[in-house]
This record gives sequence, C-alpha cells and structure tokens, in this order.
Amino acid sequence: MDDADTYIDYVEIEEMFGYFEGDADSRQQRALEYVSAIEESSFADCWSAEEIKDTLQYDYNKLLIAKHVDGNITEVVGYLIYNEIADTTELLRIAVDENHRGRHIGKMLMDSYISLTSGKCEHALLEVRSTNVAARRLYEIEGYEQLTIRKKYYRNPDDDAVIYRKILS
Ligand SMILES: CC(C)(COP(=O)(O)OP(=O)(O)OC[C@H]1O[C@@H](n2cnc3c(N)ncnc32)[C@H](O)[C@@H]1OP(=O)(O)O)[C@@H](O)C(=O)NCCC(=O)NCCS
Repeated sequence: MDDADTYIDYVEIEEMFGYFEGDADSRQQRALEYVSAIEESSFADCWSAEEIKDTLQYDYNKLLIAKHVDGNITEVVGYLIYNEIADTTELLRIAVDENHRGRHIGKMLMDSYISLTSGKCEHALLEVRSTNVAARRLYEIEGYEQLTIRKKYYRNPDDDAVIYRKILS
C-alpha cells in the first residue's frame, strides 16, 4: 500500500455536481472540510470554506474530488474546481494534499476534467503563476498551450500569470 504504483489503485475521482445548493448534508460537509484544509495548505491566497461553498452554489461551477479509499476509511486527497460557461470551461482550482503529491493524483483529476468537458465545450482555459513549475508541467502534459502572459498579475509574492488554452475535441 505504501508503494506509489499500488497507492493510485485505491484512488477514485468523484463528481460532486450540484451538491452544495442549499444546506450541505454531512457527507458534503465532510468533503468541504477536506477541500478547505487542502486549499489552506496549498495556496497563500486561499479561498475560505465559505468562499468555496458559495462558488459551488452556482450550477456552472463544479467540483471533482480525488478519494483514497482503504476499507472503511475514505480520505479526500485532492480536488479540482472548474466552470462551464457557453463553449468555454475554465479551471478555477486544483490542489493535491501535500502528503500525496507526486503520485499522479493531479493527473487523474485533470484527465477526468478534460474527459467530462470534451464534447460540451470547445476551449479550456486556465491561468497559473509563472513560477509554478509543477502545475505548468502538468498542464503541458495535458496538452495545454501557452496563450499569453499577464505581467505582474499576482501579488504575495508578485508574479506574472501565464494563460493556457487547450482546444477540446
Ligand atoms: C500542481 C499539483 C496539483 C500537481 O499534483 P500532483 O498529484 O503532485 O501531480 P502528479 O503526480 O499528477 O504529476 C503529473 C506530472 O506533473 C509534473 N509534476 C508534478 N509535480 C512536479 C514537480 N514538483 N516538479 C516538476 N514537475 C512536476 C510531472 O511531469 C508529473 O508527471 P511524472 O511524475 O510522470 O513526471 C500539486 O503540486 C499541488 O497541489 N500544488 C499546489 C496547488 C497548486 O499550485 N495548484 C495549481 C494552481 S494553478
């Protein structure tokens, strides 16, 4: 189970579309707690649990979670939030728990996202800090191409934003 190749066999991706309208039930609430904890440890400019929940109340914003399932114990180890508006989908957030990185969970989330949006949208867009080597490499593996750069777009610390696009089939 500690072996990285075996570990990934126990990870599943789940769509949690439309789950957060109105009051979240206890299962949704637990997923939200995991997502918020990963968000907080992954981003300096993290979204609060309330901001995440508010975002997910709109039906054009969607959540995928990566679950590690071991017997009765299920742990959320990563998530991806995106929107679908007309012919365009935008990746809003992706993060993997820092203790579970480097095991292709980010790639599993991206593969599911691309497969869910292909056929419905024509373009997939995202923006990323220019210094975020891991995320940029992952996006390039997924077939995204650099579209443009927004100079000094990010603060804390200052950084350029790289805008990527993928044409979906
Ligand atoms: C970006 C992130 C989601 C990647 O998740 P992950 O599960 O660790 O990534 P994967 O194991 O699926 O890696 C897929 C590929 O991305 C590249 N990659 C991943 N981490 C890397 C790193 N630290 N350095 C360089 N390339 C990296 C590799 O090419 C890797 O494929 P390989 O292992 O076969 O060579 C994760 O690093 C993370 O949560 N970062 C913090 C949040 C963040 O920056 N999100 C993006 C904001 S736009």
